[in-house]
Amino acid sequence: MEMKTNGWQPKIVAFFCNWCTYTAADLAGVSRMKYAPNIRIIRLMCSGRLDPQFVMAAFARGADGVLIGGCHPGDCHYVEGNYKTLRRMTLLKRMLADLGIEEDRCRLEWISASEGDKVKWVVNDMTEKLRALGPLDLPGKHKEWDAEMEALEKEVQTQQEGEPSHVH
Ligand code: FES
Repeated sequence: MEMKTNGWQPKIVAFFCNWCTYTAADLAGVSRMKYAPNIRIIRLMCSGRLDPQFVMAAFARGADGVLIGGCHPGDCHYVEGNYKTLRRMTLLKRMLADLGIEEDRCRLEWISASEGDKVKWVVNDMTEKLRALGPLDLPGKHKEWDAEMEALEKEVQTQQEGEPSHVH
């Protein structure tokens, strides 16, 4: 597809835990990486604070992929936050699959503060995969849907106009 190669870069929204992945990304200079210029990092105090609504909102507002980064199991500052994230992730994946959003568009990784290379690798790898998938463009699809529904409404109205007003 032309769009995939035509200078298009996937947009990633990253929800990173303050204590680990956020620090790793900051130290590794992820936001300045040439390969993944369209990453927007949002800091959470724990990956367990990630409301699935945030992920849905990121997609609805034009993200092509959502990356979640948390402390390794056993290292969460709030003890069980990341286990909660893992459980939520299972539900989230199911919801996304139902909506037809490909699995590779939402990813959870455990990355400690000292794993700057890992965060870079994950961002690059995700960028590659998203590039292969192409744009998700939910806002654009929404617009198309609006237009289609308007056309449908007109069709229904036109058809009704030609019918007698009392239909049994
Ligand atoms: S504090 Fe990092 S995942 Fe909970």
